[in-house]
Amino acid sequence: MKLPIYSPVIKILKEGQLDDYIYLLVKNQLKKKPTSVFIFPTGATPLGLYQKLVAGFQKKEISFAKTSIINLDEYYPISRQNPASYFAYMKQNLIDKIDIDPKNWIIPSGEAKNLRSEIKRLKNLIYKKLPADLTILGIGPQKTCHIGFNEKGSILTSTIRYVSLAAQTIKANSRYFKNKNQMPKGAITLGIKEILASKKIILIAKGQQKAWGIKRSLLGKIDSQAPASFLRYHPQVIFLLDKKASKLLR
Ligand code: F6R
Repeated sequence: MKLPIYSPVIKILKEGQLDDYIYLLVKNQLKKKPTSVFIFPTGATPLGLYQKLVAGFQKKEISFAKTSIINLDEYYPISRQNPASYFAYMKQNLIDKIDIDPKNWIIPSGEAKNLRSEIKRLKNLIYKKLPADLTILGIGPQKTCHIGFNEKGSILTSTIRYVSLAAQTIKANSRYFKNKNQMPKGAITLGIKEILASKKIILIAKGQQKAWGIKRSLLGKIDSQAPASFLRYHPQVIFLLDKKASKLLR
C-alpha cells in the first residue's frame, strides 16, 4: 500500500526565538487540553524549552497537574543514579520542578533486570495513553538521522524495543559520561510506529551538526536509512530549525 506523503511545515528561527515559539505551542496545547499526553525527548536540544516550561509553571502560566509525559528513550543498561541517565536528566530539568503527578510520568527503566518484561510493562502503560497529543523530537547527530533512538535500519512499523546505538551516537553522547567507556551501547526506545501515532509532532534541530540530517530527512528518500524521513508520512509535523541546522536547505 502506498502511503500519502506530506510536506512538513518548516520554521527557521533564531535560537532564543525558537525556544519561545515552542514554549507557546506547549502552553497552548496545555490550555486547550489540560489532560494532554506529551512525548518528550532529552539531550541538549530541549534544555531551553524545559527551562521555559519550569519558569512558566513558577509564574502559574501553565500546569502539568493533569498531564502525562512519556519519555522517548533511555540508555540500557544504566543506573537511575547515574547523572547521565535520562531518568536523572528529566528529574533534574523538568519533572521535579513541575506539578506532574509522578504516576503520569513514564520513562523506560535502564535498571530493569529483564528486558522483555520491561518492554511489556512499558507497552502496557504507554498504549493506555496513546495517541500522544504532542510529540517533541530532536534529531540524531551527523548522519544518524535518528528520532528517539531509532537508528538507521529502523522500520516504519517498529515499536518499543531494545536497540543497539550507532557508533556516531555513542561518540556524540559519551561526552555526558565521566568516563567515556561508561556510555551504554544500547537503549530502550519508542518505535517509529508509536511516534507516528501522535496527533502532532514537532522536531527541533539546532546547530550545524544537524544540517546534513535535516536535508536528508526532508529532501531525500523516505526510508530506513534516515528514520527522521518517516515523519513525512505524518500530516501534522513542524520542523523547527535554527539557521545553522537549516543551512543545507537553501
Ligand atoms: C533523546 C533522543 C534523541 C535526541 C538526539 C539529539 O531522548 O530521543 O533522539 O533527541 O540524539 O540529541 P541532542 O539534542 O543532544 O543533540
